[in-house]
Amino acid sequence: MILVTGGAGFIGSNFVIDWVAESNEPLINLDKLTYAGNLQNLAEIQDDSRHIFVQGDIGDKKLIAELLEQHKPRAVVNFAAESHVDRSITGPDDFIQTNIVGTFNLLEAVRAYWSALADREKADFRFLHVSTDEVYGSLKPDAPAFTENHPYEPNSPYSASKAASDHLVRAYHHTYGLPVLTTNCSNNYGPYHFPEKLIPLMIVNALAGRPLPVYGDGMQIRDWLFVKDHCSAIRRVLQAGKLGETYNVGGWNEKANIDIVRTVCRLLDEQKPRADGKSYSEQITYVTDRPGHDRRYAIDASKIERELGWKPAETFETGIRKTIDWYLTHGDWVANVQSGSYREWVETNYGNRK
Ligand code: NAD
Ligand code: DAU
Repeated sequence: MILVTGGAGFIGSNFVIDWVAESNEPLINLDKLTYAGNLQNLAEIQDDSRHIFVQGDIGDKKLIAELLEQHKPRAVVNFAAESHVDRSITGPDDFIQTNIVGTFNLLEAVRAYWSALADREKADFRFLHVSTDEVYGSLKPDAPAFTENHPYEPNSPYSASKAASDHLVRAYHHTYGLPVLTTNCSNNYGPYHFPEKLIPLMIVNALAGRPLPVYGDGMQIRDWLFVKDHCSAIRRVLQAGKLGETYNVGGWNEKANIDIVRTVCRLLDEQKPRADGKSYSEQITYVTDRPGHDRRYAIDASKIERELGWKPAETFETGIRKTIDWYLTHGDWVANVQSGSYREWVETNYGNRK
């Protein structure tokens, strides 16, 4: 049995679905169901007895302690977080609360449980913390990609809160010997990606005939990884990662935002042409930049490849086609996630941008 947190969000739900498909080991999925958590993401495994869903907060130490005592998991995989940079700029409080205080409370509950385990179970236990490349800050155009030794220089409230959580996880290993592993991954894309993030936002806006808002000059670079590849990397690190180590995860796939948006438009032109015969790229609109916008991220994934033999299965070309197909065939999901609170967020984030 393992305990997964945040398993109703984008990456967590992909991880849970893959876990159930590939393993007989049951899992408890603890998720607060914030705006980003969605049980519809888990519809395909709702009747599978290996998946136990519990609604709750990683900051609720008492609940975590009860779950640990009751189910006695051999590992915890922590996805739960506030994850959107723009929301961390308009309202950082939840980021401090969940990403820092929540991770701290989770670590405390896990430490108490782990300390009381018998020697063998104690040695086999793992706490895997899912983190981001954003903790390393922004790269100059010709600088080498981030290795695990790159200094932490987080620039947004989101990345600063993730950096704080990474430091707590590291300290719990160093001070208490808690058997931790940390992964720092680049930008994911794929099924169940909430349309506040670049790729799904562009897909749903294009199809709805809305503007495609590109921040600043659109030349910021991100390093894209198909979500299922991130999930396979996490499974591999959980299985064979060295205690206390961090592993960068990425797809060697740096692209400028504007190129991503143009690719989305080109594939939609092919697969679902506009009624007027024009390209979706006509909807591209340059808007006011994100404050403090990081210019470039790039992950050096040599360590996980060399030490754990992990490599991504998808190229960007195959992954983005699968993603567009998924959005075109999941109209109900797309419609349901664009609720009243989603529309309020769109107004908050885009309403005042020129
Ligand atoms: P997401 O926002 O889609 O999902 C987050 C999930 O966590 C939601 O289901 C939400 O309900 C849940 N949650 C939030 N606060 C909680 C709390 N206090 N207690 C319990 N559950 C809570 O995020 P995501 O994109 O799936 O990211 C998952 C993790 O991966 C995050 O830690 C994020 O920092 C990290 N990460 C994301 C990316 C990416 O490109 N999306 C890349 C690298 C790392
Ligand atoms: O690098 C990993 C990180 O990737 C994760 O830790 C975060 O949780 C995840 O949200 C993502 O952060 P980004 O800020 O890179 O992702 P986002 O999709 O919000 O933006 C990607 C790029 O696209 C970024 O340079 C900002 C730009 N952008 C984004 C939106 C939403 C636009 O130009 N227009 C937009 O409307």
